[in-house]
Amino acid sequence: MSRLPIAIVSAMHDELRALLPLLRDPQPVRLAGRDFHQGTVHGQPVVLVLSGIGKVAATTTAALLLHEFQATELVFTGVAGGLRRGVKVGDVVVAEQLLQHDMDASPLFPRFEVPLTGRSRFDVHAGLADALAAASQRCIDDAAALIGSAHLLSFAIETPLVHRGLVVSGDRFVPSVAASDALRQVLPDALAVEMEGAAVAQVCADFGRPFAVLRTISDRADDSAHVDFTRFIDEVASVYTRAIVEDWLQHRVRA
Ligand code: ADE
Repeated sequence: MSRLPIAIVSAMHDELRALLPLLRDPQPVRLAGRDFHQGTVHGQPVVLVLSGIGKVAATTTAALLLHEFQATELVFTGVAGGLRRGVKVGDVVVAEQLLQHDMDASPLFPRFEVPLTGRSRFDVHAGLADALAAASQRCIDDAAALIGSAHLLSFAIETPLVHRGLVVSGDRFVPSVAASDALRQVLPDALAVEMEGAAVAQVCADFGRPFAVLRTISDRADDSAHVDFTRFIDEVASVYTRAIVEDWLQHRVRA
């Protein structure tokens, strides 16, 4: 097994806090205002870190992980707003592609295209995404045991699903039906919206390293997107993230 670490990047404090107890032999390193937690989880070398919110913070974090810590692959976890019909609060989205919805250098380049790359959509590593989707399915099949029926009920979560497809990112929380309708109109196949994934995708593409993005749907990117946001991360998303990451690493070590 390679002794170089897998990077697991959390968007929110509560998620990192949920993952840290899994870490054995922790060796923290502080760099660029970030605490990088090196160690092992089920024998697998990992480095856990909080990304910061938005594309620039995530870019800095990803570049440091790949260059300074020599991370062999990167998994980004967090929450997202559901865009496509049927992508509900409590579901999990495993990205297959990522796109920056606020990238627009038109008319010099087509809308959404990252100038001078010829690309608007960045593919995740299929094997990594498959493994995370399988772990997500195993975990949410037992969501009631994981989260507790009362918590699920309080967020109106009935039968959570795992979705795979396009996730879009931008430096903007999408807080209204008008804003999410506008995104659906220009990007009809987008499953979910968040604020970091496509930036990390571009950095990983530059370094030629595998990456994947795992998001729990916290809201429908509508006028009530902010309601219960913090409570959802604490009671649902961080519990999902810990369970999925642990299940994925356990299966990987056995494989
Ligand atoms: N992350 C979670 N919900 C979001 C939303 N509505 N917009 C952008 N990022 C999000």
